[in-house]
Amino acid sequence: MRAFVSFLMLPFVFLLAGCGDVVSQDTAQRGKIAPILTSEEAFDDQTFAKPKEARVTHIDLDLAMDFDAKTIGGTATLDVLAADEADSIILDSNGLRVSAVTDEAGNALEFGLGETVEGKGEPLTIELPAQKLEREADLGEGDLAPTHRIVVEYVSAPEAEALQWLSPEQTAGGEHPFIFSQGQAINNRTWIPTQDSPGIRQTWEATISAPEPLNVVMSGVVQGDPKEEGNRRDFRFVMNNPVPPYLIAIAAGNIEFRELGPRSGVWAEPEVIEAAAQEVGDTEEMIDAGIALFGDYRWGRYDMIVLPPAFPYGGMENPVMTFLTPTFIAGDRSNNGLVAHELAHSWSGNLTTYSSWRDGWLNEGVTSYFENRIVEEVYGKERAEQEYALSYAGLVSGIEDAGADNPATAMRSPDGISPFDTKGFAIYDKGTVFLRTVENIIGREKFDAWLTQWFDSHAFEPVTSEMFLADLREKLIGDDAELEERLMLNEWVYGTGLPENAWKPDDAAFAEVDSAVAAYASDATLPDVDAWRGWTAAEQRRFLEELPQELSNEQLSALDTALGLSQTENNEVLFLWLEAALRNEFDPAVPQAERFLARVGRNKFVSPLFSALNDTAWGKPIAQRIYAKTRSSYHAYTRGNVDDTLQYEKPA
Ligand code: BES
Ligand code: ZN
Repeated sequence: MRAFVSFLMLPFVFLLAGCGDVVSQDTAQRGKIAPILTSEEAFDDQTFAKPKEARVTHIDLDLAMDFDAKTIGGTATLDVLAADEADSIILDSNGLRVSAVTDEAGNALEFGLGETVEGKGEPLTIELPAQKLEREADLGEGDLAPTHRIVVEYVSAPEAEALQWLSPEQTAGGEHPFIFSQGQAINNRTWIPTQDSPGIRQTWEATISAPEPLNVVMSGVVQGDPKEEGNRRDFRFVMNNPVPPYLIAIAAGNIEFRELGPRSGVWAEPEVIEAAAQEVGDTEEMIDAGIALFGDYRWGRYDMIVLPPAFPYGGMENPVMTFLTPTFIAGDRSNNGLVAHELAHSWSGNLTTYSSWRDGWLNEGVTSYFENRIVEEVYGKERAEQEYALSYAGLVSGIEDAGADNPATAMRSPDGISPFDTKGFAIYDKGTVFLRTVENIIGREKFDAWLTQWFDSHAFEPVTSEMFLADLREKLIGDDAELEERLMLNEWVYGTGLPENAWKPDDAAFAEVDSAVAAYASDATLPDVDAWRGWTAAEQRRFLEELPQELSNEQLSALDTALGLSQTENNEVLFLWLEAALRNEFDPAVPQAERFLARVGRNKFVSPLFSALNDTAWGKPIAQRIYAKTRSSYHAYTRGNVDDTLQYEKPA
């Protein structure tokens, strides 16, 4: 059975957004109830919730930040839609300290935390109030409406995985503390008691108290100016579109706002704001490109925050407030594929969202494809083709390393493989190559029209691989058996390895670099330094990625002297240089690697460098020595990965 959505036509509401601009969000309705999926493929085994019995439809948070205790606590008021026979609801928790649960009038409700399951946390089971909510008069027969309201009083644990509390020394300014959250995948249950599953969409609102002079941002639309309360301020946010709860996000610090255009702006510490605003200066153009490609932007504003370097990802697509690492700033916008990517999630991932983590490619693969299309519009075909060629090469080498029959190379995680163990390249790069392949077989115009209607007809709803394929077949293939065969859809989505119809990048994309690589490999001819400097960042990355794995100290030294690799301003390029150097036991690179690992917390850079060190007897003690100093500054995600790699003995 599929629930029906109620579309109440409320008058258009204008909300105050960003810093002064008034922008409408296209749906403005508290508690608009999104459908849930009940097919087997849609099942999420990472939640304790039983949404068919009782589900959360709206969250109202009233929380205060405590930087000394490293906790955030207060109340979460939840609207619940329960089946007639349900007498309780199960929420997800992970380390939450729940002190009371009541109904709206303050009457106590029974609750209990179940046993902890490693990685998942514990179920929080709450008795539903005997008193049901009254149905609003203007609801029609069959319209869904919440049936109960409960109030959870709680505080997060200091070690909550979703939250990273930074000391002033971990910020650019060095004077004020900072906090940011990372909800995806299943971390938000460490600070929000709700049903933490991507298929259970919820609207939300929040009042957040923070000490002066910190500013708070969230992945919702800010409501006016903060209210002064002694030496603290209350900030209010609303998200009227039902979102998967991993997209609820918060950050606070000594940050300021810079407007980029009518719909967009960027937040960062004062020390970083100028460089940040420069780097993301193409954002308005990117939004226009996204709309022209695949339909309306449905979220009102698009703002970003450039976080301190401890942020463990490149970016996170929190609605109306993308979170970004500062390490993408290169001074020349060359790493802006990242911004295009997080923006693209406003359609793929945030508008239509996988119902379970097993369909990772539906969010990330579709987004990587979309990202490349935005890059093509904004930066031109050549750069887009180069970036596509990098993805393709990453996919080919990933499959080579993992083995073409490795189940972790299937886009849809097969039975028996944890969705979190499916390889990154199988979700991101294989997804991109898949859609590029389909696009080329079907033809761009028809394919674009199809993808546009896919986002539109499943807006604010959960989706599955099966729905994606069924829709594609219904609307683009029909009974054309020959076309069906050429597309190899099932092989792409469920199979391992690389299907043979994969769309290859144009050899011309890297013609110059590839001949430079060949020249180097044949007789150690170094590229001309002026040619190197004139290369795009993608070309420089290609060169470093295609160099022989084994390089002598003399070779590394000659490369660095000739090309100034260790002086690059681009962290992607610097990372590749350091990785090659450490893999090959190049002593002179150690001090720079040490500085890099102390200033950067992005897992994509940190983990492989420790891994490269750990692979040799030369590097092992260096890795241990550096990690002992840097570990405490890393996010739990980065730390977990490096702990595993180094088999690090955690201090008791
Ligand atoms: N949503 C992801 C980040 C993520 C994925 C966090 C899974 C937790 C679990 C984000 O959109 C992303 O893909 N970031 C990439 C950007 C890159 C592909 C341009 C990153 O952080 O490197
Ligand atoms: Zn992504």
